[in-house]
Amino acid sequence: MNILHIDCSPRPGSHSRALSAAIVERLVEGAPGASISRRDLAFHPVPHPWPDYATALSSPATLAAPPPRSLDVSEFLIQEVEAADVIVIGTPMNNLTVPSVLKAWIDQVLRAGRTFTSTPAGKVGMLQDRPVFVGIASGGIFAGDRANQPDFLRPYLSAVLGSTGLKTLHFLAVQATAFLDPVQAVAAREQALSTIDFKRFAGVPCL
Ligand SMILES: Cc1cc2nc3c(=O)[nH]c(=O)nc-3n(C[C@H](O)[C@H](O)[C@H](O)COP(=O)(O)O)c2cc1C
Repeated sequence: MNILHIDCSPRPGSHSRALSAAIVERLVEGAPGASISRRDLAFHPVPHPWPDYATALSSPATLAAPPPRSLDVSEFLIQEVEAADVIVIGTPMNNLTVPSVLKAWIDQVLRAGRTFTSTPAGKVGMLQDRPVFVGIASGGIFAGDRANQPDFLRPYLSAVLGSTGLKTLHFLAVQATAFLDPVQAVAAREQALSTIDFKRFAGVPCL
């Protein structure tokens, strides 16, 4: 099993990093020989679309004859996804959705003719489905009975990754991090992990 482990938080003591690391740990328990590829978007961010990349993506004609090397970063990141049997993403909620470093990654991985096809009925994914675990940390509460803010993170990730064919998303969340002491933080993480039966994924490269 190859796990692509992505993190987005720049914060020392990050809850989303602790959660994504614990998810990876649980997966490796069921697949001891697993290899792990790391992509740290907080400390090694991928570029936002630059002129040549934006030009390449602007039409079918420019995609067919893109400016030289304009798709290299995109291609590298897509191949990283393709090489993974499982993807684990640790992400904060920033202003109700994903942080910009994760959005920049999404802007490289979603590419017409490569990870999705545009049809009159909408985008059709070109990637093989595989489990994607998303460990979210939020300062406030966005899910459950006590939610007091909208959630544009889970629906957004489901829509964009789903349009590439990555439809099997599992969301785990540590919420109200602004109010957690270290003991409560561990309990909240364990609670989030308990929502997934990781044994289901033991030795199963793809769903
Ligand atoms: C720029 C920014 C925007 C944020 N927006 C939200 C938000 O919309 N909702 C929320 O619940 N928390 C928000 N937070 C708080 C973070 O989600 C919270 O601190 C979380 O624990 C960060 O993840 P980390 O612990 O992995 O660093 C925001 C934090 C920052 C820095």
